[in-house]
Amino acid sequence: MPQPGTSTRPTPPRVIAIANFKGGVGKTTTAVNLAGALILRQQRVLLIDLDAQGNAGTILNVTSTAEQLGVRYLLHSDTYGVAECVITRGPYLDVIPADPDLLEVEQHLFYMPDGRLRLRHKLAAASSGYDVVILDCPPSMGALTQCALSAAQEVIIPVDVGFLSITGLLRMQTLVEQIRQTVNPALRLAGVLATKYDSRTTLSGQTVETIQSMGLPMFAHPIRVSVDIIRAQIARKPISGFAPGSSADQDYHALAQALFPTLAPRTPDLVQAHQER
Ligand SMILES: Nc1ncnc2c1ncn2[C@@H]1O[C@H](COP(=O)(O)OP(=O)(O)O)[C@@H](O)[C@H]1O
Ligand SMILES: [Mg+2]
Repeated sequence: MPQPGTSTRPTPPRVIAIANFKGGVGKTTTAVNLAGALILRQQRVLLIDLDAQGNAGTILNVTSTAEQLGVRYLLHSDTYGVAECVITRGPYLDVIPADPDLLEVEQHLFYMPDGRLRLRHKLAAASSGYDVVILDCPPSMGALTQCALSAAQEVIIPVDVGFLSITGLLRMQTLVEQIRQTVNPALRLAGVLATKYDSRTTLSGQTVETIQSMGLPMFAHPIRVSVDIIRAQIARKPISGFAPGSSADQDYHALAQALFPTLAPRTPDLVQAHQER
């Protein structure tokens, strides 16, 4: 990790998993844009892409190559740690990209005695240079998601409230509870995050009410549907570096604020934090 002028802190990072076994609900979008909002709070962020599709890496213009070790090596090899696998994306952001072969690794993880705990051990060994680690999970409840939940202290479950996607939310809650009771007592559900919220339709409001009635913790501020999100992804930047002040930027700052209430964003002097090296 590049050192933006501060010494290594002894406190371990906050590890936040973004998980939902449904695809297309905004996991990757949340991982990337939460990272963007935290960068502006001068948090040193490590984003790990655990989805073989590699979308988080693609959006941040960071992909695994023959020379570059991706998350497959981190999970599968005893030789490589975080430091060997990261790609530095800016003064405050390191990324470990996914590999297309990640699905093979997932099968191996099932059979390894400490499979589910590998990510946790690798992070514990090497992540003291970071303030926050964000884990972008694949759309499944398989070994990679379980690895992430075993390593995290908090999980955010994004739910696309514009698309009747609450089915399965209870299964996600059950998985979180199972991991908490077995390998990771520190894990807690930070909240369900409503994404693609559209105040012009009644569906969004009704879905939010349904989730609230289930008694699950929910972030008060939803992520509104926004074309800027897609534009920022095409430009390969977090929304905070692409369209500061846009509704999507405000929404992801609200999420960062809810998670890190004591940290204020410092915008102008840190815009360059988003510039690619
Ligand atoms: N708030 C939003 N407004 C508009 N489009 C969004 C929003 N959030 C996500 N998307 C789009 O929805 C699609 C799925 O999002 P993504 O984050 O990749 O989901 P997941 O990682 O859960 O599969 C992407 O094309 C993304 O650009
Ligand atoms: Mg994704």
